[in-house]
Amino acid sequence: PNIGVLISGRGSNLMAIKEAIDRGDLNARIGFVGSDVPDCPGMVWASGQGLDTVFLDYSKGREAAECQIDRAMELHRVRHLVLAGFMRILSAPFVGRHRGQVINLHPSLLPSFPGRSGIRDAFLYGVRITGVTVHLVDEQVDHGPILAQEAVEILEGDTLESLEERVHRVEHRLYPATIDRWLKEGDFSLASLRLRPW
Ligand code: GRF
Repeated sequence: PNIGVLISGRGSNLMAIKEAIDRGDLNARIGFVGSDVPDCPGMVWASGQGLDTVFLDYSKGREAAECQIDRAMELHRVRHLVLAGFMRILSAPFVGRHRGQVINLHPSLLPSFPGRSGIRDAFLYGVRITGVTVHLVDEQVDHGPILAQEAVEILEGDTLESLEERVHRVEHRLYPATIDRWLKEGDFSLASLRLRPW
């Protein structure tokens, strides 16, 4: 299946996804990479790899930008969207018309520490265990049926940087593996997922 990957920054998870595909561990093809930040490192890398890139122009409003996503999905025959550090919130109508077909990665054990700085918030709070969550996107931010979670221990002597590095290492392994499982299981309605958790 073709996937669309949406990013806003570094793109290290996009790179991990591409590597997993190239290794044969993730059965998918990247149809396009979309971003609201045209010159972010992840987009520069994607163009260099010869991937199709789409600039999502949010300056004309969210609805217009989401129409661009819809058009790119049609053009590239993409039904499944992968959010990988995409810093925009998808509207309820967009989520409604792609129900169960948008997946997100968050660097904490949800429902703890949602928002833009999950790793930092967990570190500053002083929890001993944080982690990584992969979930389907619903109308709320960093919320929706959980497909996978993995714990990361916060060690004595950890700095924010050393913790970030371990969290990202887990992300780079867990996200491609979970995307593969999600694509194989097909489309789920939120209701059936809640009744039959993975
Ligand atoms: C990751 O930590 C992800 O969990 C969060 O944004 C970050 C993206 O990193 N949603 P990168 O751009 O993939 O390097």
